[in-house]
Amino acid sequence: MSVSVREALGMPEGETVVLRGWVYRKRELRDKVFIVIRDSTGVIQAVFTRGTRAYDVARTLNIESSLVVRGGIKVEPRAPGGKELHVTDVLWHYVGRPYPINEDAVRADSEYLLDIRHLWVRSRRFTAVLKVRHTVGDAIREYFSSRGFYEVHAPTFISAAVEGGATLFEVPYFDTVAYLTQSSQFYLEALIFSLEKVYTVQPSFRAEKSRTRRHLTEFWHAEAEAAWCDMDCASGIAEGLIRHVVRRVLDERQDELGLLGRGTGALEAALGPFHRMSYDEAVEILRGMGMDVRWGDDIGSDEERALTSKFDRPIVLYGFPENLKAFYHRNDPGRPEVTLSFDILAPEGYGEVVGGGERIYEEEELVGKILRFGLDPKDYEWYIDLRRYGSVPHAGFGLGVDRLVMWLVGADHVRDVVPFPRDVRRVKP
Ligand code: 4AD
Ligand code: MG
Repeated sequence: MSVSVREALGMPEGETVVLRGWVYRKRELRDKVFIVIRDSTGVIQAVFTRGTRAYDVARTLNIESSLVVRGGIKVEPRAPGGKELHVTDVLWHYVGRPYPINEDAVRADSEYLLDIRHLWVRSRRFTAVLKVRHTVGDAIREYFSSRGFYEVHAPTFISAAVEGGATLFEVPYFDTVAYLTQSSQFYLEALIFSLEKVYTVQPSFRAEKSRTRRHLTEFWHAEAEAAWCDMDCASGIAEGLIRHVVRRVLDERQDELGLLGRGTGALEAALGPFHRMSYDEAVEILRGMGMDVRWGDDIGSDEERALTSKFDRPIVLYGFPENLKAFYHRNDPGRPEVTLSFDILAPEGYGEVVGGGERIYEEEELVGKILRFGLDPKDYEWYIDLRRYGSVPHAGFGLGVDRLVMWLVGADHVRDVVPFPRDVRRVKP
């Protein structure tokens, strides 16, 4: 039976273990070969001594060669983790070719690392990111499930835009065309009539032609929808979700955050209540900062960066003008030029990670707004149908999982937290 690196590091001096892994670093010294072996749990230094068959094998190994060894645990304060493995036998190994990624490649060319992403995902940095992603996904499901939300699944092939025609991907579909989903929201809305509170975590697609540090063409989208819920209810659920994710990441991923050089101060600040700010206030604040923003203008990434620089906590920004939000957003009955919508902005300039709000639940109001937005009610026939039978006030939101992870680990680019990112220039590997 083999043990993991983490288990091996926890064992007392003299214990004999079998360990499986890959060559992370290799150093030859007079009569010894030092190989740092990595597995999914960590790294341990293995020592091979001249005169053994194991030593002869060790000399042939490349970075990332795989191996299974048997050896004895020795306490060694100078080794990473404070223990070493003194190898007596190599039970199995696969040398392979010289590994194409070295420190020069890492420093020189991020484009190369994207081309070779299928290998770069083995790096310790990327492994740390993947573990944070795992905890985020786990925490999202735990949060919803423990609050009575049912997990549901929506289709990827769809027939009408949710978030506007400009970013729709068209795909041939037998003798017609279909589109890739931009959001599962409309399907979640249909499902609240059976389950009342629903959520899904699945990819959404946007034909984003702009090359920004936070846009992908395929991203992971955690979306929720609840019957009998208004804007404050939905933003409260979204805020609670982010807080829960942050707490789990702080509890379980200190090592990974450390390895990624991410200080935890900004994350700890998000454990308290988020700052709430209306769109009107945001415009005033931005004007006060000398930015040329008028009421009705979009809050873009520059404006978001300016706003988030003023607070250490995330911001719930609510009450956007009608023209800035998709047609399905319910207008405030007391102030019709404004919608009951919200975004949540992550601190430190990261900006929008959540978009959501109350939906129009009356048939006449919905058809009127579809027409006012220059859209064709025929394209939304089944969506309008939901308002014809026992419609109820309801609200929901979508969280960009990749963007949330980007902020959690302090990445410069959303690509850096997605194992196989897709953007305007890249669909491989
Ligand atoms: O704000 P968005 O467009 O809202 C919707 O899609 C709603 N229908 C969601 C809902 O209410 N169910 O997208 C929601 C979030 C954004 O706040 C952002 O975090 C993320 O999805 N997102 C993207 N992430 C990466 N790349 C892109 N191109 C993204 N577009 C949106
Ligand atoms: Mg949005």
